[in-house]
Amino acid sequence: MSNKLKVVVTRDLGPDVMPLLLNNKELDVVVWPHNSVCDRKWLLENAAGASGILVMLSEKLDAELFDAAGPSLRVVSTMSVGYEHADLKELSSRGIRFGYTPDVLTDAVADLSIMLALMAGRNTKETLDIWPNFVWSPYVWCGPQLSATPTSPKRTAGFIGFGRIAQATLARLIPFGFQHCLYTANPATAPDHAADAALAAKYGVRELRRVPLDELARESDVVFVLAPGGAATYHIVDEKFLRGMKKSAVLVNTARGTLVDSDALAKALHEGWLYGAGIDVVEGEPKVGADHPLVKAPRCVVLPHIGSATTDTRIGMATLAANNLLGGLFGKEMPAELNT
Ligand code: DGY
Repeated sequence: MSNKLKVVVTRDLGPDVMPLLLNNKELDVVVWPHNSVCDRKWLLENAAGASGILVMLSEKLDAELFDAAGPSLRVVSTMSVGYEHADLKELSSRGIRFGYTPDVLTDAVADLSIMLALMAGRNTKETLDIWPNFVWSPYVWCGPQLSATPTSPKRTAGFIGFGRIAQATLARLIPFGFQHCLYTANPATAPDHAADAALAAKYGVRELRRVPLDELARESDVVFVLAPGGAATYHIVDEKFLRGMKKSAVLVNTARGTLVDSDALAKALHEGWLYGAGIDVVEGEPKVGADHPLVKAPRCVVLPHIGSATTDTRIGMATLAANNLLGGLFGKEMPAELNT
């Protein structure tokens, strides 16, 4: 019997990263052979006897999978910063180490968040395919301006969740004239005014405050949804929140689809409670068809979860995921281990 360590990888990570695993003579690497979401049955069968499993967001990391792998399983590594697909209690109680991919995707997702804020306000959904039937006129397709204007100089950004990606997004908004930043945070954590003051100084904004959700809805010109998924944030953007927004405001969700009630948002856009929305994540993805209420909603740009989809970032994520796996397999430091 081989004394190599078996690892299962649920996607081919490409020529820049796979050699890290394939060239390691101590490993027996089994890779899902298709360019599609890994089949659950295949994963359960192939996990048997594995010491490490490297997965994508699409794979549920639960007791069934860990039982299928058996007691040899030392480490699970996900190529994602989000980990709501992982049962952390099960990982912890079984002593299985867990790696994820924070930081490397922060800039890519912040870039896309700004892109969606611009697209949502500027009627991009309606105008991209308009040629050749378009007649220019002074006020056609006019939307709210993201940057400050002489007639509307005050710009306030609202963040639901104020972690790394939110702060990187704020940094990008400063040249647009945003001087006011409101955010909400996990209610279980205490407000930290000194930390807020330090962040205000760091980004050079006049105001940076943690506020209740209704104030954030009421005051913000653009709301960025950037909190983790899971039960605590499920449909945090609901009908009440949307009814409370400025009619000229836009909503951007680059976090998780579950934070936004899709039906309520579609209704809000049809009825003009807010101006537009830029959505990179949809509840129920990837099963989002042309009939989805958000795909059909006016001034709603819907993208297929491409926040981190730049070549450099995806290679960075895959490399980190592979190195996390290797660290966990050989009892060494993992570059990004989650303390479960
Ligand atoms: C993540 O890593 O959690 C992102 O959503 C993937 O783009």
